[in-house]
Amino acid sequence: MNQQFSESFIWGSATSSYQVEGAWKEDGKGPSIWDVFCLIPGKVYEGDTGEIACDHYHHITEDVALMKAMGLKAYRFSIAWSRILPAGRGVENQQGIDFYNRLINELLAAGIEPWVTLYHWDLPAALEFEIDGWLSTEIADIFAAYASICFEHFGDRVKNWITINEAWVISILGYGHGVFAPGKKSNDLPYVAGHNLLLAHAKAVNVYRTKFQQQQKGVIGITNNCDFREPLTDSIADKEAAQRALEFFLAWFADPVYKGDYPAVMKQRLNNRLPTFTEAEKTLLKGSSDFFGLNHYTTMYACDATNNKKEGSVYGNGGLSEDQDVNLSISPDWKLTDMQWAIVPWGCKKILQWIAERYDNPPIFITENGGAFDDKLIDGKVDDVERVAFFKGYISAIGEAIDTGVNIKGYFIWSLLDNFEWASGYAKKFGIHYVEKDSLHRIPKSSALWYAGVIAKNAV
Ligand code: GAL
Repeated sequence: MNQQFSESFIWGSATSSYQVEGAWKEDGKGPSIWDVFCLIPGKVYEGDTGEIACDHYHHITEDVALMKAMGLKAYRFSIAWSRILPAGRGVENQQGIDFYNRLINELLAAGIEPWVTLYHWDLPAALEFEIDGWLSTEIADIFAAYASICFEHFGDRVKNWITINEAWVISILGYGHGVFAPGKKSNDLPYVAGHNLLLAHAKAVNVYRTKFQQQQKGVIGITNNCDFREPLTDSIADKEAAQRALEFFLAWFADPVYKGDYPAVMKQRLNNRLPTFTEAEKTLLKGSSDFFGLNHYTTMYACDATNNKKEGSVYGNGGLSEDQDVNLSISPDWKLTDMQWAIVPWGCKKILQWIAERYDNPPIFITENGGAFDDKLIDGKVDDVERVAFFKGYISAIGEAIDTGVNIKGYFIWSLLDNFEWASGYAKKFGIHYVEKDSLHRIPKSSALWYAGVIAKNAV
């Protein structure tokens, strides 16, 4: 089916600092928790690290040219906090500020809007050692102070800010399952980290709104990730399980931002394991996002597991399943990406409709969507037909959601480049540009050429 999008629809692509920049200790940058985590044997596939990654740090002119060739309207990247503040707070690093100034200026000169994420998981290691990172009650103010420095230096040109990328992943994978930095395993700490992430977001937004927004005239929001959960059967128990799973996944972070507090189901089930907000914090949180940022990758069936618990799988994104009493599964008919995530475009339409209904139809930007595939470079070309089919399916589903009244304003492909895929190292390739090993030469895949056509026609 042919889907036409509006002229003003934002077509973008995304990356994050640790996954692409490299230059891990150049020009005054301090270490981040990912720099350290990668050095721990067994944490990352084949011992890969982001020390060089795509060397985006030294390739920005070339990378902006790739974006321009595609007609990209927006580029979402993140700032490495420890490039700006090597110890997380205190002395600023001018060379780090200069780097992002160059990137922002090159983007604008190419007619591409910068979309800047302040935190995409690379916490300055100093803050982990000194105050316990996201577990500290001090961290929200320290993050807001860092955010303020970014608004001050870049806000004259950056008009789209994202505070935190995927608080769910940070909390569950970093503090629950321990597979991402800082590698902690606990049933309680995810809820503490999540709480501080929300407060950090709210405080940074408050700084922007009270000191910068009126003059700089940008927008600011948070990006959350959520897969869709379809009830396995029509039973009331399974329908409730799917709803519960979505509340533990997305409403955990979106309810405080849109309604001022955690969902009732989480409060009931977690009791004092879920921290509470003061009235002042609730007021600060409620309405603290100018748009709804969503990263979406896959869908699973959910069924009630009150009497039959299975352990949640990390890569099935189950969260702490014992808190939810939900079992997850997929259909054998669904095709899988290289991450073993099922390709289910209708799930994307349904999660968008779920958001529109629960949060009163906010403007939504899909800040990440994409798939890893086992791409092959043959005769200098990468014909990634599966990725093109993936994007066709998902972008069409987004168009259908718009037709039903969901207010979707933009879409960012994950990712511009094959890059460091966290604990999977370089083994999983999400890019629409292939990055050759060693030479780091970039080659547009068929999907990049196809996406350029979508952008040119505003249609899929
Ligand atoms: C997201 C994350 C990205 C990227 C992507 C693919 O959770 O924000 O950094 O890794 O998943 O796994």
